[in-house]
Amino acid sequence: MSKIVLLPGDGIGPEITEAAVRVLGKLGDFQTEDHLIGGAAIDATGEPLPQATIDACRASDAVLLAAVGGPKWDTTDPDAPRPEQGLLGIRKELGLFANVRPVRPVPALYDSSPLRRDRIQGTDLIVIRELTGGIYFGDRGRNGDSAYDTCVYSVAEIERIARVAFKTARAKVISVDKANVLESSRLWREVVMRVHSEEFPTIALEHMLVDNAAMQLVNAPRHFDTILTENMFGDILSDEAAMLTGSIGMLPSASLGEDGPGLFEPVHGSAPDIAGTGKANPLAMLGSVAMMLRHGFSLESEAAALESAIDRALEEGLRTPDLGGEATTEDAVQAVLSNL
Ligand code: NAD
Ligand code: IPM
Ligand code: MN
Repeated sequence: MSKIVLLPGDGIGPEITEAAVRVLGKLGDFQTEDHLIGGAAIDATGEPLPQATIDACRASDAVLLAAVGGPKWDTTDPDAPRPEQGLLGIRKELGLFANVRPVRPVPALYDSSPLRRDRIQGTDLIVIRELTGGIYFGDRGRNGDSAYDTCVYSVAEIERIARVAFKTARAKVISVDKANVLESSRLWREVVMRVHSEEFPTIALEHMLVDNAAMQLVNAPRHFDTILTENMFGDILSDEAAMLTGSIGMLPSASLGEDGPGLFEPVHGSAPDIAGTGKANPLAMLGSVAMMLRHGFSLESEAAALESAIDRALEEGLRTPDLGGEATTEDAVQAVLSNL
């Protein structure tokens, strides 16, 4: 039986994990096992990523993570443990260098976005975010009264994420960088161009500076097919792109490596402002379950069934508060289950 490690984490994490488990139960026989990460792990063990969690993830067929972090553990003390170190740590430990974030606004939600319908309709893009390098993992520290973070990329790191993007793209990759300023971006551009001409010459390639990309994402989102970008730019641009779908509570993702289990995680955080109120939108988590079924278990028809159950629930009018409605997390789970 396939083994899934669940990492509920903090804030709304446990609530949306419960939603995921109930939906999974209707889709097949999966063995699930809960493990600690983030603030919950700090409280229980003193560290954000206990060794037992790493071992369990390695031994699993897939990992489903909800979210980590919250005001309880927020600190500017560089020596104090942070929940986010747990998430960065598990991505690194499992070698999950490719984060795939599809942004496909569903027609039922065109009018739930703060952007005008005519801008967003027909948008179908995907962000391929490099996940284990760049400024997130470079040398950092404090030096007297200054502090620094370093953005480092190697040729090999850029090559492998570029290949993921070219393989994902239907027709065009837009590589987003800041090559007019950053040396790491100039290497990025050089390597992406070489991988393109040597291995994927039939896919179109465009380069876009990140500030312009942020603007074009709301100005002309249909222009994008596959966005290839480094770790921090991908983090920021995908939250922005989420609003094309109506809410950050809609965006799923898959974090994949060369081999071994993938980790499936909604793009949003632990939403401490609504934790425990029953207002959390579980659809990004359920979309991540669909990505797990597809990428982790090759269960394409189960994945598609779940995605269409989500779409139908939205067509029937399901709206959690982030989408302007009053439905609870429980209402959303019921609506999806009844369409599954
Ligand atoms: P956030 O994504 O948690 O919340 C931003 C806003 O979106 C909030 O108003 C929140 O209520 C809303 N929101 C997010 N997810 C929602 C959902 N499923 N349903 C309804 N509304 C939702 O971002 P933040 O407030 O900047 O961060 C809060 C904490 O989460 C921080 O500690 C941060 O480090 C952490 N975080 C974790 C992850 C992760 O675990 N993958 C991702 C992002 C942020
Ligand atoms: C995300 C989150 C994480 C990131 C944080 C919580 C470390 O924002 O998954 O997008 O920046 O990668
Ligand atoms: Mn983020």
